[in-house]
Amino acid sequence: MLRPKEADRELELAVRLNPGPWEKHSISVAQNARLIAEKTGSMDCDRAYVSGLMHDIGRRAGIRGILHLFDGYDYMMGMGQEEIARICLTHSFPLKDVNTFFGKYDCTLEQKDFLQQFLESREYDDYDLLIQLCDAISLPNGACIMEKRLVDVALRHGLPDFTLDKWRAFMETKKHFDRLCGCNIYTLLPNVMDNSFADLI
Ligand SMILES: [Fe+2]
Repeated sequence: MLRPKEADRELELAVRLNPGPWEKHSISVAQNARLIAEKTGSMDCDRAYVSGLMHDIGRRAGIRGILHLFDGYDYMMGMGQEEIARICLTHSFPLKDVNTFFGKYDCTLEQKDFLQQFLESREYDDYDLLIQLCDAISLPNGACIMEKRLVDVALRHGLPDFTLDKWRAFMETKKHFDRLCGCNIYTLLPNVMDNSFADLI
């Protein structure tokens, strides 16, 4: 598994290729994932951090929609990082349905079929779920309540038919980690209140 320092370096190189708010978002996901993993007492904190930092690494290839999942998967597989590659594909799918992506479908039909089979054949573990959760609570400036981040995504991508099912799935994932941590995960993360009160637009 990539070490945290190596992952930091990978992100640095990637944002040189494609600078953008995804850098701070990725750092925020990684830091929040580490804090939650620590509290569970059962998860590997470095693995949580690295998975969070690398989940959007496909964005190194440029501004993309769903294609960034495949670019990240291919890049991480090329480095022999299968566990992280998996996170690149699963992080947007609390529902195992390839048609529930918020954003542009700029991949091929073959890639879409591959992803559907990949999601169906895989039992999500706590790392898949943790990065799905952290992606859904992490703005570039840090964690906020999930409802705020979901509205942020909806303002950018609209409200497709599956939106409520996907929101409910994210909320279930949060409850899963509340249980694992023995507390409300928001109490573990810095500045949730300030970030949640900040204007989105
Ligand atoms: Fe993300």
